[in-house]
Amino acid sequence: MDLNELKIQNLDKKNEQAMAGGGPERLRKHKEGNRLTARERVDVLLDPGSFVEVDRFVTHRCSNFAMEKNKIPGDGVITGYGRVNGRLVYVYSQDFTVFGGSMSRTQANKICKIMDMAVKNGAPLIGINDSGGARIQEGVEALGGYADIFLRNTLASGVVPQISAIMGPCAGGAVYSPSLTDFIFMVKDTSYMFVTGPDVIKAVTHEEVTKEELGGALAHNQKSGVAHFAADNDKHCLLLIREMLNFLPSNNLDDPPILPTKDRPDRIEESLNSFIPDSSKKPYNMLDLIQKIVDEGYFLEVQKHYAQNVIVGFARFNGRSVGIVANQPQVLAGCLNIASSIKAARFVRFCDAFNIPILTLVDVPGFLPGTDQEWHGIITHGAKLLYAYAEATVPKVTLITRKAYGGAYDVMSSKHLRGDINLAYPSAEIAVMGAEGAVNIIFRNAIKEAKDPEAERKRLTQDYEEKFANPYVAAEVGYVDEVIEPAITRKRIIESFEMLKNKRDTNPPKKHGNIPL
Ligand code: HXC
Repeated sequence: MDLNELKIQNLDKKNEQAMAGGGPERLRKHKEGNRLTARERVDVLLDPGSFVEVDRFVTHRCSNFAMEKNKIPGDGVITGYGRVNGRLVYVYSQDFTVFGGSMSRTQANKICKIMDMAVKNGAPLIGINDSGGARIQEGVEALGGYADIFLRNTLASGVVPQISAIMGPCAGGAVYSPSLTDFIFMVKDTSYMFVTGPDVIKAVTHEEVTKEELGGALAHNQKSGVAHFAADNDKHCLLLIREMLNFLPSNNLDDPPILPTKDRPDRIEESLNSFIPDSSKKPYNMLDLIQKIVDEGYFLEVQKHYAQNVIVGFARFNGRSVGIVANQPQVLAGCLNIASSIKAARFVRFCDAFNIPILTLVDVPGFLPGTDQEWHGIITHGAKLLYAYAEATVPKVTLITRKAYGGAYDVMSSKHLRGDINLAYPSAEIAVMGAEGAVNIIFRNAIKEAKDPEAERKRLTQDYEEKFANPYVAAEVGYVDEVIEPAITRKRIIESFEMLKNKRDTNPPKKHGNIPL
């Protein structure tokens, strides 16, 4: 054997050692929980054979608690780059079998290196998190490592898409990197996130709660709104991430990819002409309407378990990505409340940061009334959505299907907030408030003094409805550009976005705005 062969053999040995992670016993235990290994996850996420690993041989430099005798190549995280449907992405995947995937100074350096590459080369970053948190043996070095990552997450925000998969524990400071990223995907039953775990909670507040109840996938998808997707298992989670990436550009200077479609851009959807119920009090499912107008009926809903009175997600119109924000009349009559305002505002800002046009479907009776909403700050939180729409410069098309009342009319991408094309169905009702409420206020005395107050109330209500419960007052002053027959919705939306495709609009120069947080 010549010297070169020996050297290659040595390399093979080192590679083998690194591939073994924390060893067969820990790997076996890890897989018992129906979880993929860190390397298998990278393989499922990326196009076959596209992964290129960097820093495979990096080890920690800690010598506390005899750690110098315990070094594993890679130090608990696999980092590198590869392709998703042919497009470049950067990825890190924590390996729970190596020191519980815990964050060491070295692990942080590896992750930071890959983050810097993602920003420099303008490609999305996907973090697969599975870690016991800060490496306890390293103390402040590990904390510093986390903070270095947080800084990079913040600086990369709005520059490249950042996606977090939570595929195991994620406790303490470890939750903050994911929450600085754009989307969090969790796996049901095997992932959890919390700042303080059940034991600390019990000691401090005497409250008893399981990990799953406290910070499992459903807790964060339904209750807190921290997470955006709840996958059934590791593979499902990674495939969902691939799907989402298809809607996104690689960076903020790029346009989203165009996916050819067989769905005709001029497809007429006759069923929409009878879709909106006759009675304005009757609910309908806005998801059905979305499905009827987007390419091939395909809609990737984001945060579908949370604040369901507003729907957000991605679809395509004639092959182009569009972010959809829609009131859902089936839940809380489609009212805007705190949770839905925050959900929609964050989505609008994401779309705006990444050149994804926004379609807004409006059927909103107003903001949800009540002390609970007022005392928890609906004023501030509702203003987030106003702010997000007002500052957004991507093409904005709005369609009022039915109600657009009060402040909520203004908020939902109205003309006044730089809506580019504002459409309405003939069934649209655009006014300060519903007819009954309005009549009770402005004609209180007239009704009281009438011979037959009930008949008078009815007459005035009808009169008000005739005057205001339609789209034509708004159309007469140009706040609505066109009242359309519902059957042509898809065609007109595609024409609108096509017309707007080279739109250029800017905001005044500033360091940054001060969104009401
Ligand atoms: C070093 C760790 C570790 C950690 C786990 N391990 N967490 N090593 N630092 N933080 C090691 C264990 O010693 C063990 O090593 C192996 O990983 C697997 O751990 P187990 O406990 O056997 O696994 P499991 O029973 O599945 O429990 C997982 C766990 C638990 C729930 C995550 O390990 C745990 O509670 N870890 C500590 C969590 C924590 O408090 N982290 C600090 C959070 S504070 P061996 O050799 O036996 O296989 C924080 C501050 C950050 O993160 C602040 C940033 C701003």
